[in-house]
Amino acid sequence: MTAVPEFPRPLPRFPKEFLWGVSTSAAQIEGAVEEGGRGASTWDVFAGESGRIKDGSDARVATDHYHRYPEDVRLLKELGVGAYRFSVAWPRVVPDGRGAVNAAGLDFYDRLVDALLAAGIAPVPTLFHWDTPQVVEDGGGWLVRETAEWFAAYADAVAARLGDRVERWITLNEPAELTLLGYGLGQHAPGRELLFGALPAAHHQLLGHGLAVQALRARGARSIGIANSHGPTWAASDAAQDRHAADFYDRLLNRLFAEPVLLGRYPDEDVAELLPGNVDDDLKVISQPLDWYGINYYQPSLVGRPRGEATEVGGTRIPEGLPFAPQDIEGYPRTDFGWAVVPEGLTELLVGFRERYGKRLPPIVITENGCSYEGIDDRERIAYLDGHLRALHAAMAAGVDVRGYFVWSLLDNFEWAEGYARRFGLVHVDYATLTRTPKSSYRWFREVLREQAGG
Ligand code: NOJ
Repeated sequence: MTAVPEFPRPLPRFPKEFLWGVSTSAAQIEGAVEEGGRGASTWDVFAGESGRIKDGSDARVATDHYHRYPEDVRLLKELGVGAYRFSVAWPRVVPDGRGAVNAAGLDFYDRLVDALLAAGIAPVPTLFHWDTPQVVEDGGGWLVRETAEWFAAYADAVAARLGDRVERWITLNEPAELTLLGYGLGQHAPGRELLFGALPAAHHQLLGHGLAVQALRARGARSIGIANSHGPTWAASDAAQDRHAADFYDRLLNRLFAEPVLLGRYPDEDVAELLPGNVDDDLKVISQPLDWYGINYYQPSLVGRPRGEATEVGGTRIPEGLPFAPQDIEGYPRTDFGWAVVPEGLTELLVGFRERYGKRLPPIVITENGCSYEGIDDRERIAYLDGHLRALHAAMAAGVDVRGYFVWSLLDNFEWAEGYARRFGLVHVDYATLTRTPKSSYRWFREVLREQAGG
């Protein structure tokens, strides 16, 4: 393989007002799970069950960001990002899921927001990044409608405290993954294996999104988005069965989450039948206009007809009995996680979104993009990000309105069922000492930000 330079040739120029950032989430970095009156989350419980996390770890300490946030804000400042996407932990703010608000929990985010603003960085909180309060889960979690209402009440409490300083909000992160991995396949918390019985969890998260948008608007919010995961879905061959399977997968993982939000409808009758009752009124709530639409992009999916056996793709075990079979993508480099590196998939995705949704599509923000590689001199990560930024620029040159780009992630962190084995950070974390060490990619991104700022 040819050596990857630490600083490849300069990137094309992005618009002056383009928002550059990095992302994290509470459950993956905060730790301090029993401090400040925080209640238990589904991930605390799930990680405590044997065999759930591949390396046997949990997120009780994670990167200890709860205590080390001043150092992390310094890292953000030195990096030179304009924005920082983090998530607020529902069980920290409303430990019982509903009812009493825990002022001490909000104090933490209050301090974080102030520290970010003092460093000249715009805070971009996500209200839900998979850490459901366990008491809410015990009452049925996202399979029941009340959870959407409690989520909106929690969103209101956060907006009441932070709304005077936070301009941009994200309601949900990747409801598709929580539905599929958490409720469908049981590989993420809460560990349910309901297959298509998981679909009410999708609807209730989307409803929670809509109700939270209303709550935020009532508190004066003017810049609201959602962070949905999307990727192009490629058929394994031109054969009708493969194309059919790929189309089904696309409807389930892309369109099921984009279309209620953007068009106020579900993509097809088959799926709608599995949803809880008549959802027409809910769709009006779900499809309120957004100020921007967040996309998390990692890789395309290659999907064929079922093979009659269970498979494992990119760390996810796919049981038999589903009407599609995702496959490994050959012919592209892979990250340490085994994920295919396909920057042009981002251009294809964005151009495809613009073609499909036209005027119904608000400006886009890439709310996550990144890769897992070992090592501190992480030239492969630089190559990955460099390639994806060029692909993003190509989509913009083709007329797609993209307003920002956030790298996943600032720090190495708790990668869910993978534990600490997968490292997505621009900053390395030594989990024995919690020492932070900026990687080569951190220095590269800092240089990109300087160049783009014209300095
Ligand atoms: C998307 C999720 O939002 C984030 O939590 C996760 O760490 C990254 N993908 C990488 O898998």
